[in-house]
Amino acid sequence: MALAALERDRPRSVVTPLKTEAAVDLSQVCVRFTTERGTITALEGIDLKVPTGGFLTLLGPSGCGKSTLLRVVADILQPSSGTATVLGGPPAAARSRRDIGFVFQDAALLPWRTVLENVTLPLEVGGGAPKGRARDPRELLELVGLSGWEKAFPHELSGGMRQRVSIARALVSSPKLLLMDEPFGALDEITRDRLNEELLSVWERTGTTILFVTHSIYEAAFLGQQVLLLAARPGRVQELVPVDLPSPRRIAMRETPQFVSLVTRLRSVLEIC
Ligand SMILES: Nc1ncnc2c1ncn2[C@@H]1O[C@H](COP(=O)(O)OP(=O)(O)OP(=O)(O)O)[C@@H](O)[C@H]1O
Ligand SMILES: [Mg+2]
Repeated sequence: MALAALERDRPRSVVTPLKTEAAVDLSQVCVRFTTERGTITALEGIDLKVPTGGFLTLLGPSGCGKSTLLRVVADILQPSSGTATVLGGPPAAARSRRDIGFVFQDAALLPWRTVLENVTLPLEVGGGAPKGRARDPRELLELVGLSGWEKAFPHELSGGMRQRVSIARALVSSPKLLLMDEPFGALDEITRDRLNEELLSVWERTGTTILFVTHSIYEAAFLGQQVLLLAARPGRVQELVPVDLPSPRRIAMRETPQFVSLVTRLRSVLEIC
């Protein structure tokens, strides 16, 4: 058989292989807030390495510091002590290179701009995307299943569609790191399931490293290659659980004994967080 045919028939892993260097490396990161009611330790002694191309989900009770951790990585917040290294340097450098994309719980689209104009917004502000890094916004809309909606306005879209626009917008300057803070928390379960599958497919096709905050044990288990469980008061790492589910992942997989036992394990750790 010709080599080309052998190569063609070789089974391929759909998941982007992990490279060894860390995209995010936190060492003994502490964040303290001084308020009228005293000092709050939002994060204490956080050590974390997320491999390049990895997908980490963060799970933990309200107030355990999930959003704070993302804000440190995004250079929105400075740690009180410890060091954060993002894509090989300080978070501020990664941010100024436009290597970080952020998706929030609320899609936060500009209502007077069309879907396409919302996606292209990051290319227009702050000097635009670095040279050669701007992605075709129409291709991104296709990637998130919104072809044909380019000229629609945000008020014409469902919540799930608006969130897909915000994902396309976050991807338009080809960020190497995507930070997502409960992006699907406000959606109904069916839409959320569909977006979970779509997000995995986007991740597989782009190779972007993703940190994803959720309150859903199922979502954390389904999406993550690793699940970081944080405990509250003070916010600290309870456990980092590797997820060894076959690829590609499909929603139906949540019925399998392997998935059910993973969820049971995560739930039991969460109970002591
Ligand atoms: N700017 C701030 N000033 C004072 N305290 C803050 C500030 N931001 C966060 N905190 C406190 O830090 C702790 C962690 O907050 P954070 O928002 O990171 O939690 P979270 O895990 O994202 O919670 P949730 O699941 O409810 O979103 C909380 O006790 C919160 O009150
Ligand atoms: Mg939060």
